[in-house]
Amino acid sequence: VNLRALNSFALPAVARRMVRIRSEADVRRVLDDPAIGRLPRLVLGGGSNLVFTRDPAGVVLKVEVAGMRLLQANDDAWIVEAGAGESWHALVEWTLAQDWPGLENLALIPGTVGAAPVQNIGAYGVELTDRFESLDAVDLVTGRTVTLDRAACRFGYRDSVFKGALAGKSLITRVRLRLPRPWVPVLGYQDLERRVAETGITAPDARTIFDWVCAIRRDKLPDPAEIGNAGSFFKNPVVTAEQCRDIIGRDPHVVHYPLPDGSFKLAAGWLIDACGWKGKSIGHAGVHDRQALVLVNRGEASGAEVLTLARAIQESVYGRFGIRLEPEPAVV
Ligand code: EPU
Repeated sequence: VNLRALNSFALPAVARRMVRIRSEADVRRVLDDPAIGRLPRLVLGGGSNLVFTRDPAGVVLKVEVAGMRLLQANDDAWIVEAGAGESWHALVEWTLAQDWPGLENLALIPGTVGAAPVQNIGAYGVELTDRFESLDAVDLVTGRTVTLDRAACRFGYRDSVFKGALAGKSLITRVRLRLPRPWVPVLGYQDLERRVAETGITAPDARTIFDWVCAIRRDKLPDPAEIGNAGSFFKNPVVTAEQCRDIIGRDPHVVHYPLPDGSFKLAAGWLIDACGWKGKSIGHAGVHDRQALVLVNRGEASGAEVLTLARAIQESVYGRFGIRLEPEPAVV
């Protein structure tokens, strides 16, 4: 199976075998199949956070578990459940259409519902963990279905247990979200504060915030349907107060945000931009011209070219600011 259309970076790769997973039972059938049960496996959702540098070994499990439903309407929250194969953005739209707000800041994030917990997707002041109830996953060793609550998922910034202890060991099949009642808008992110100021709408409803987030993203981020990319290519680095002072000494304009624990988060996009990378290319891999944190496929890029560009960026940011940028997508 050609995977080029199944990864948002549009990188070339071929799967020797691919199995579509529509239920927990489908996973167990794979595990019990003598021909493929012991092969290495790659769990594939929307392919929007992946860099293929080679063909994946073994079997690709393409998650297509479907369905979206309201599980409970409590006084303090709506609990919604979605199959891991559903599009994340479709879930955001559906919940808003039903008048269950809470996911509007997470509009237009590419990828599937099942991938959302893996890297704890986040944008415009909200992270998945803020709206998470629990999930079901199949243990790829025992074949058993397990339910994990928020604590068990060990969410962090673009991080979870699925990137750590459970990496490669489980397949998420269903995710349940908790949308708190009454709804409280989250407007603290700079880009949203600017919209409030520009429009004079000081108490926007969820639909308005959804529209703003979509407009901001469309303005800054390349549409993967038109130009291959995997969103932010690096995480925003977190540094100590002392390191932050040192970097401000090197350039007083550095974009930095204080965190509750006294450390600071730096805008990796700003660091890369400051090194002059915006709009530059190496081979067919490039740096987006409106958001330097996003690497793009300008046509026929290979995963190796993308990684060459990424390393060159890491070296120049390290040389100028002494900061090591960590890639955000998974590299195969
Ligand atoms: N900036 C520049 N030059 C650039 C890019 C950014 O100066 O080329 C500055 C901006 O002006 C702004 C700051 O850096 O002051 C932050 O930029 P932005 O608001 O675009 O957000 P980000 O920190 O680059 C993060 C997430 C995005 C998420 C946005 C909005 C990470 C790694 N990325 O980007 O998530 O959509 O905030 O919340 O945390 C993703 O993970 O794939 C992703 C797109």
